[in-house]
Amino acid sequence: MAGRHEKIEKNSFLMLVLILITISIGGIVEIAPLFYLESTIERVAGMRPYTPLELAGRNIYIREGCYVCHSQMIRSLRDEVDRYGHYSLAAESMYDHPFQWGSKRTGPDLARVGNRYSDAWHVAHMTRPRSVVPESVMPGYPFLARRLLDYRRIAEDLRANRTVGVPYSDVMIANAVVDVEAQAQADAVAAADLIRRYPKAQARDFDGNPDAITELDALIAYLQMLGTLVDVNAFKAAGNSLR
Ligand code: HEC
Repeated sequence: MAGRHEKIEKNSFLMLVLILITISIGGIVEIAPLFYLESTIERVAGMRPYTPLELAGRNIYIREGCYVCHSQMIRSLRDEVDRYGHYSLAAESMYDHPFQWGSKRTGPDLARVGNRYSDAWHVAHMTRPRSVVPESVMPGYPFLARRLLDYRRIAEDLRANRTVGVPYSDVMIANAVVDVEAQAQADAVAAADLIRRYPKAQARDFDGNPDAITELDALIAYLQMLGTLVDVNAFKAAGNSLR
């Protein structure tokens, strides 16, 4: 045995070949299964693509750099779960391109902010944060209420998301503009169709101004949806669960 080993140690080429064989076994064991898994994300009930209005709001969220101060990922740590609710599931950001997890929090995590405040609170807060939270350091975004939402090309946005794997159907893309209008206007008859396409979609006049569909309508529609799609309390993790 010792003699054969000496042969390997004195022959650097043989040694190199044997090292490569040994390492590639480890590599195959780790990498090969990934090609056979359909997805590394555990599927959960309720997750759906964003409605065109929510997607438009998300675009404004990104445009304004809200992610610089806000994360959208509740870590599975006790203090986070106590403050923000059930830890985030991978599936909850599966339709985010790009994802908004974030690693910096000047403000709180927003992953479950949906339905926590009224629309009127969001209008006041986005216009002038210190009118509702006196000690806030968040800047105001009063112009969002004045700017009309430009959704003429929203269908292309859905299509772009489809190319990276978000399951938008042809019907969803064809109705993108109609769906924006149905969701942002109170009592729209078309809202029934919207909700059939996007379960749990909230349709109403979000910014309190029924005369126009503004950027604030889209942003609040997005915020009010965050964390509301998946019933996390019904979810049982394959491994362990915090609650
Ligand atoms: C300079 C950092 C900063 C930026 C940029 C910022 N925020 Fe905030 N945000 C905060 C802070 C700090 C708070 C906590 C105090 C408060 O409620 O105003 C907060 C609170 C919030 C809350 C309430 C969360 C809760 O659970 O109480 C929402 C919603 C929110 N921000 C949305 C936004 C949106 C949307 C944008 C982008 C248009 C944005 N923020 C940009 C710092 C920021």
